[in-house]
Amino acid sequence: MYIANRVSNLGTEGAFEVLAKAKMLEAQGKSIIHLEIGEPDFDTPKYIRDAAKKALDDGFTHYLPSAGYMPLREAIANHYSKTRNIEFSPEEVVVTPGAKPILNFVMNASINEGDEVIYPNPAYPIYESLINFVGGVSVPYVLREENGFRFDINEVSSLITKKTKMIIINSPHNPTGGVLTEDDLQKLAELCIKNNLMLFTDEIYDRIIYDGHKYKSIVTIPGMKERTIILNGFSKTYAMTGWRLGYGIMPKEYAKLIAKMQINATSHATTFAQVAGAIGLNGNQDDVEKMREKFEQKRNIIVDGLNSIKGIKCHKPLGAFYVFPNIKSTGKSSQEIADILMNDAGVASLPGTAFGKYGEGYIRFSYANSIENLEEALRRVEKIFRNF
Ligand SMILES: Cc1ncc(COP(=O)(O)O)c(C=O)c1O
Repeated sequence: MYIANRVSNLGTEGAFEVLAKAKMLEAQGKSIIHLEIGEPDFDTPKYIRDAAKKALDDGFTHYLPSAGYMPLREAIANHYSKTRNIEFSPEEVVVTPGAKPILNFVMNASINEGDEVIYPNPAYPIYESLINFVGGVSVPYVLREENGFRFDINEVSSLITKKTKMIIINSPHNPTGGVLTEDDLQKLAELCIKNNLMLFTDEIYDRIIYDGHKYKSIVTIPGMKERTIILNGFSKTYAMTGWRLGYGIMPKEYAKLIAKMQINATSHATTFAQVAGAIGLNGNQDDVEKMREKFEQKRNIIVDGLNSIKGIKCHKPLGAFYVFPNIKSTGKSSQEIADILMNDAGVASLPGTAFGKYGEGYIRFSYANSIENLEEALRRVEKIFRNF
């Protein structure tokens, strides 16, 4: 086989590797509590599952236009118009199999060799991976615990050069649960406009937000819509990770280009999943709110539990379903702690470094699990930390 040079720049997602290891230990008879994987522990709401079954029976089993099933693109545009208070049209929407391809297509469509992209670290590892893969230069801004895992605008500003093309943000944030404030977004928007930059906003956790917080998107700030690409999808909000259904929202002409990239990759997202997705967005949203409430309850349990363990300090996140506790007092690396928790306590987690080098000193737990399992995991973690 011949392997192209750019492949050596490709990163990966640690969660899938840790999941494989945890499954192997389980197969050997070990009890493992899965706090490593980033997916809701709920079933997809019944009305959406029913809609997919009906769509199959109704013959939605054929090809569609590449940008997506028009009623779904309309539902997405309506949802965004309603929740963001500015107008979106279906022509600005491209539906993809999961949200991830949006990132892939956008990096390939916009980043030339040597172009700089400013992105958060720690963060979802696919940002750094894809920037590097397409030949761009990945320029990290650090998310610090003492700042609620929000960026420092002066630091972001200092990283901008003539070669900067794009800034990436993710709020609520994976892996820290950090949420950007309106003031953060306003200042960032000013930087993007002043320096004529594209802005990529990953809003996949926008509806998993706590303490009465109201979601604010940077796209609503005047001068931003024409330079912003939004990533969002059904995986987290509707517990639909395995359906692979996501979307991007972007200026019309750019959407045509991204749809063309999709023609060259996957053609389109699965037809009956798109039909069900439209019904999901247009239907009663009680299930989404119930899941959000449950996540908030679990967040409180895990944050309080971790903070009562000697040697752990856990920031209380405002969104998503992850905590990113500080384990620096142990003197051990994130990887060592994650290994000890897996092998000696049967608790699967991810080292902070799975999200970039600035994740050292932290581990990530996903609390999308049952309350009983979370409580058992806390007992097991406490037993381990007692000995440090
Ligand atoms: C921050 C972030 N963006 C994007 C994605 C991708 O979502 P999907 O599974 O719909 O492709 C994830 C999934 O974990 C994520 O955490």
